[in-house]
Amino acid sequence: MKMEKIKIKDDIFWVGAVDWDRRLFDSLIPIPDGTSYNAYLVYGKEKTVLLDTVDPSKSDILMSRLEGVENIDYIVSHHAEQDHSGTIPQVLAKYTDAKVVTSPKGKGLLMDHLHIPEERIVTVNDRETLSIGGKTLEFIHAPWVHWPETMLTYLSEDRILFTCDLFGSHLATSGLYEKDYSRVCEAAKRYYAEVMMPFRTTIRKHAEKIKGLAIDMIAPSHGPVHNEPGCILKSHGEWVSDALANTVVLPYVTMHGSTQLMVDCLSEALAKNGIRVERFNLTAADTGKLAMALVDAATIVIGSPTVLTSAHPLAVSAAFFMNAMRPKLKFASIVGSYGWGGRMVEDIRGVMPNLKVEMLEPVVIKGRPKEEDMRALENLASSIAGKHREAGIA
Ligand code: FEO
Repeated sequence: MKMEKIKIKDDIFWVGAVDWDRRLFDSLIPIPDGTSYNAYLVYGKEKTVLLDTVDPSKSDILMSRLEGVENIDYIVSHHAEQDHSGTIPQVLAKYTDAKVVTSPKGKGLLMDHLHIPEERIVTVNDRETLSIGGKTLEFIHAPWVHWPETMLTYLSEDRILFTCDLFGSHLATSGLYEKDYSRVCEAAKRYYAEVMMPFRTTIRKHAEKIKGLAIDMIAPSHGPVHNEPGCILKSHGEWVSDALANTVVLPYVTMHGSTQLMVDCLSEALAKNGIRVERFNLTAADTGKLAMALVDAATIVIGSPTVLTSAHPLAVSAAFFMNAMRPKLKFASIVGSYGWGGRMVEDIRGVMPNLKVEMLEPVVIKGRPKEEDMRALENLASSIAGKHREAGIA
């Protein structure tokens, strides 16, 4: 079936692919609502430009939408990750005079990852412009959202900012826009948490950089186009801010129920202290929801039993994941039970060196919790509440 171009404005079209069935990204990140790989075609009076391509698994869809497009002069590659760049070789093969436009860092990455010949690549500097006849593309370097080469494109005459992964969401929809903003916001927050959170200070700087642009529309490379960009800009402003919520994130795993009893006791005690608890049983947890809970939580407490003298591998994996996500967290602790001994606390602490947190005294017990163990957990809850109050987190 021939796939059509979808018009955004005169001479500007969406030519991407919706991936309704994808449920995992990077063999790691759950994406329950699918995703899209957005590519855009812009016709100037003199030149035609394709902004990004699609994941190679959907290359036939992009090529179908491009049927009837006689010429492409430039393919702008905002980001060399393959879900956007992977179909560039096919487009270059069809349009033999086309050049790839990318940042200097992007050039090397495209050559490494896709073996694109050097002579087919043109690099652009930060704020360099390209006139295509009645339309001007301004390239804005935005490194580390989330690779080092990333750039954005501002189409000044139409006041559209093409942002690639930034402001994106893993959300498959049948239209270009989604009216239900709560749906977009939920998906965008998951996307931010899973992909962008480690780079929040960088995103803050980039947000400052684009503040001066008149923007009617933000066109990311995943999920719906934002035709009311104020909402997505405001949400990101909150997520990247230093504001912390009076929340404890409590990922845990239990083997014979002792750590579960400890987590139950701690959850109750935290709630009594007015603290919100986000609990994740790691045998069934959605990693994306765990990441979302970490966007503004003040404290993490990891619950783990001891297995074969070590922390449970699911708890170590969660701690390693959180270490990579670099959330804003200020405080941390560990709770759990052991059978006869082990190095559970050291194992968990050892995989989260990036977390600049104050470690509160762990509660680690032998066997099934006794009354005094429950008191120790209640004391931990009180001390977390005290730390939150001292830090002005309400
Ligand atoms: Fe959607 Fe970083 O690729």
